[in-house]
Amino acid sequence: MHYKRCDASAAWSALGEYYQSQGASFDLRTAFAQDAQRFEDWSMQAPAVFADLSKNRIDKTAMELLLLLARDCGLESQRSELFAGAPVNLTEGRAVLHTALRSPPGTDAWSDEVQAALDTMLAFAEHVRDQAKSGICDVVHIGIGGSDLGPAMVVQALQSFAKPGLKLHFVSNVDGHDIAPLLRDLAPATTLFVVASKTFTTQETLANALAAKAWFQASGGSDIARHFVATTTNTTAAAQFGITRTFGFWDWVGGRYSLWSVIGLPIAIAVGADHFRALLAGAHAMDQHFAHAPLERNLPVLLGLIDIWYRNFHGFTSRSVAPYHQGLRRLPAYLQQLEMESNGKSVDRDGNPVAYGTSPVVWGEAGTNGQHAYFQMLHQGTDVIPVEFIAVQKPHYGGHLKPPVVERLKDQHRKLLANCLAQSQALMQGKRFEEALGEQAPTASPTMAPEAIARHRSFPGNRPSTTLVLDELTPASLGALIALYEHRVFVTGALWGINSFDQWGVELGKALCSSLLPRLDTGDASGLDSSTAGLLAHLRS
Ligand code: F6P
Repeated sequence: MHYKRCDASAAWSALGEYYQSQGASFDLRTAFAQDAQRFEDWSMQAPAVFADLSKNRIDKTAMELLLLLARDCGLESQRSELFAGAPVNLTEGRAVLHTALRSPPGTDAWSDEVQAALDTMLAFAEHVRDQAKSGICDVVHIGIGGSDLGPAMVVQALQSFAKPGLKLHFVSNVDGHDIAPLLRDLAPATTLFVVASKTFTTQETLANALAAKAWFQASGGSDIARHFVATTTNTTAAAQFGITRTFGFWDWVGGRYSLWSVIGLPIAIAVGADHFRALLAGAHAMDQHFAHAPLERNLPVLLGLIDIWYRNFHGFTSRSVAPYHQGLRRLPAYLQQLEMESNGKSVDRDGNPVAYGTSPVVWGEAGTNGQHAYFQMLHQGTDVIPVEFIAVQKPHYGGHLKPPVVERLKDQHRKLLANCLAQSQALMQGKRFEEALGEQAPTASPTMAPEAIARHRSFPGNRPSTTLVLDELTPASLGALIALYEHRVFVTGALWGINSFDQWGVELGKALCSSLLPRLDTGDASGLDSSTAGLLAHLRS
């Protein structure tokens, strides 16, 4: 089916006009002062995720126009096609069915094969977790991109659910400095390597797998079949590599959407089959919300529409993600791939250039660490960068701590939450020149004019943010949170009329790398530009 591109919709022009007349001068402080209901009207509970959208530079008219735009671009039909398994990844002629991986058994056409693969993977995970029988103490997961970022992020986030005494390690970079320090601490007899690659052709993963195999053999390891397994769609290549135990999946699972498939094996090993199923169930609850909630109360839709408003009308080029939970510190890296590899495109589905911005830069760091690094720029820099705060109401520190320590940590959690609230408040409120002038700043230079100091100490304010709140960080709530982001990326991609599910942009660098690799040995610089030739010579000297 052919869908209208956002810029072909009358709502797009109306949004442009509304931005000029009202949107550009929108002030959050005035909006709150004029509307006592603003928080109630702009916050909502989705499965496991409460969202406060009220500190965004948006009003009801802009949102109504954005909803018109969504309907005009066929968002609802596009969404139905996604769930129905239509080949929405047009350039590769593939369906995109990560949602089928978390559907309850028997509820769709893919159920039998999905459940069979899931059961086999979970049974193996439980076998590994039974350390008396498996003898495994360390699991080394080798993969990159979607075959690394999701599992690594989730395993870290669910640490308090993980089996003690079973260590999970993640190796991704082709740089040997990634795997080298790890190999120092491993013993072949107690180590399991999981080689994760959808294609089983990825240079980095195969290089690290070969290094692991060399280490295993050189360290006296025997029985490769017991100590190496693969998760892949290319079981033939895995077999050629010498791996006999392979967990397969399907080309309709995109790499960056694959943590729900057998690529999630390290998650299942870390937290067990029941928690893995809870992760899937949490994601499914968000799928249901996305599939059925009316657009105006549909959280992935609302977030995606605000993203469009910011990117295409306000012209904001980046978004910062600040999870106020140390367990979620890898979430920004995971979201970078999810969002930027999906929507970093400049042609539409038909291959025509787009005339508007697509993926923003997504970046961030766990709070409160980010506050002591780049928040200065968020508060006083020249660019407006919407910030996404993620807070978790109740902490979980594991059962290994004595009550007085837990009490201290609970106090730290209150501090963490207060910091999170304070940052979004400060971004919005700002500080006027007159206010700053009236303050005594103990560290201000006595030789500088008070007016100049006050200008340095003023904050523009009106800087937008969204706050997402989870009751607790559990497998189910994390599943819902990740699915929320997946669907939000789908919404923006659908309106931009791009294919969010291919990644041709990574091909050129891969091809040039293959051509440069032998030149590092031979020094052959023929046909190279002078910069690349000069650097090649320098690296060989
Ligand atoms: O970076 C390109 C990419 O193809 C990603 O989309 C993918 O997640 C990653 O490489 C790893 O691919 P594979 O799982 O096939 O090794």
